[in-house]
Amino acid sequence: MTDTVISTQDILRQRYGNDAPETLLRNGTIDVILSHRSVRSYSNEPLPEGTLETMIAAAQSAATSSNLQTWSVVAVTDPERKERLATLAGNQNHIRRAPLFLVWLADLNRIARAADAREMPHEGLNYLEMWLVGVIDAALAAQNAVIAAESLGLGTVYIGAIRNRPLEVAAELKLPPMVMPVFGLCVGRPNPARPAAVKPRLPQEAVLHREEYHAEQIPPAVERYNATMSAFYAAQGMNVEGDWVDHSARRVAGPESLSGRDVLREVLHRLGFQLK
Ligand SMILES: Cc1cc2nc3c(=O)[nH]c(=O)nc-3n(C[C@H](O)[C@H](O)[C@H](O)COP(=O)(O)O)c2cc1C
Repeated sequence: MTDTVISTQDILRQRYGNDAPETLLRNGTIDVILSHRSVRSYSNEPLPEGTLETMIAAAQSAATSSNLQTWSVVAVTDPERKERLATLAGNQNHIRRAPLFLVWLADLNRIARAADAREMPHEGLNYLEMWLVGVIDAALAAQNAVIAAESLGLGTVYIGAIRNRPLEVAAELKLPPMVMPVFGLCVGRPNPARPAAVKPRLPQEAVLHREEYHAEQIPPAVERYNATMSAFYAAQGMNVEGDWVDHSARRVAGPESLSGRDVLREVLHRLGFQLK
């Protein structure tokens, strides 16, 4: 948890630029959540003892569909394994440098094996719905772990690129069938020499609809956000080409923009998910 007390105006300005809501209820938890920033540079100091177990207890405290708990996580600290995973996940250096790399998994295998042991059927696991349940459970668990880590002053960054080459990741981690790497998570102590900034989000009008979806709210809010993000990048000295709409649209332009993940459906079949 950050010790410095930040004013409500400043915490909102960091999160929204000039487009902040007028009110914010404050407490330590909300301050931690609103101060989130992805951290990709770490100090050489080891993590506090008990970090992993605390993060996992927080993860396991998340809600989970029907209490099925259809997720697992592999904690990687071995430098050689991190090196191999970094290579598989877009060659991202922060994976190599983080003292702890967590690979969050949608895991339908555990429940299949438990049902098998009692000779009970589990055909329901072969449906798209149950794969989605596993992915949702993994994401909720991971985000709880992130909040716990951030409340301890640690930094994290998610690694969606773990899905660039999921079959090789599955082989590296010896995953059984019906277990899918959803994303990775680097965990470390933030490097004080390279602090990360809070990145502004869309104005609330772009995401919050009252009673019914109001599509007309969105374009002006997105326009304002383009300006907010351009100002943010300029303030950070980042040379980002185009505005938020430009680079968001480029990110979804076609299958080639998906970094190899355009074949995910086929890969999931090979990992044992039937997705009926
Ligand atoms: C599911 C997911 C996957 C992500 N994958 C990557 C990644 O592979 N590499 C990376 O550097 N950041 C990754 N990020 C971090 C996002 O780029 C980051 O959250 C976003 O730009 C907003 O910045 P902030 O987290 O600092 O607020 C990922 C985030 C999420 C939620």
